[in-house]
Amino acid sequence: PWDAARAQEIISAHLGLEGPALPILHAVKKEFGYVPEAAVPLIADALNVSRAEMHGVVTFYHEFNREPHGRHVLKICRAEACQSLGAEKLARDFLAQLKIEWGQTTPDGALTVEPIYCLGLCAHSPSALYDDEPMGWVDAERLNEIAAEAQN
Ligand code: FES
Repeated sequence: PWDAARAQEIISAHLGLEGPALPILHAVKKEFGYVPEAAVPLIADALNVSRAEMHGVVTFYHEFNREPHGRHVLKICRAEACQSLGAEKLARDFLAQLKIEWGQTTPDGALTVEPIYCLGLCAHSPSALYDDEPMGWVDAERLNEIAAEAQN
């Protein structure tokens, strides 16, 4: 759970670093499993930047999820090679079927679906990462298997 005092400790521990923003965000994510909205003003104040600026940093990097993840995470590649082989429609249909948007988690807490930008598996497009397991040539059938598997 969110703990402002713990967040403040993490921030303080990294303030001496050159360019502390990303190390702080990584440490906050490691501690809480996501970057809570409430952490943004604390970090911004500590670094003497505006909240809007800090918010921009958090949203720019896709690895900083702002909601807790589900039990499983599927990242679908949205970069060019995968897009050219239909990844976008595949992902859109899958999200529609799960009734969630990018970055959201199914209501049962089983599966979070996030975008990722090139996994270095372009030769096997469309590709994805399921709980850190890379996979290529993903199709609707494979996504359905994942959705089912995530329930367990
Ligand atoms: Fe998808 Fe490279 S573009 S893996």
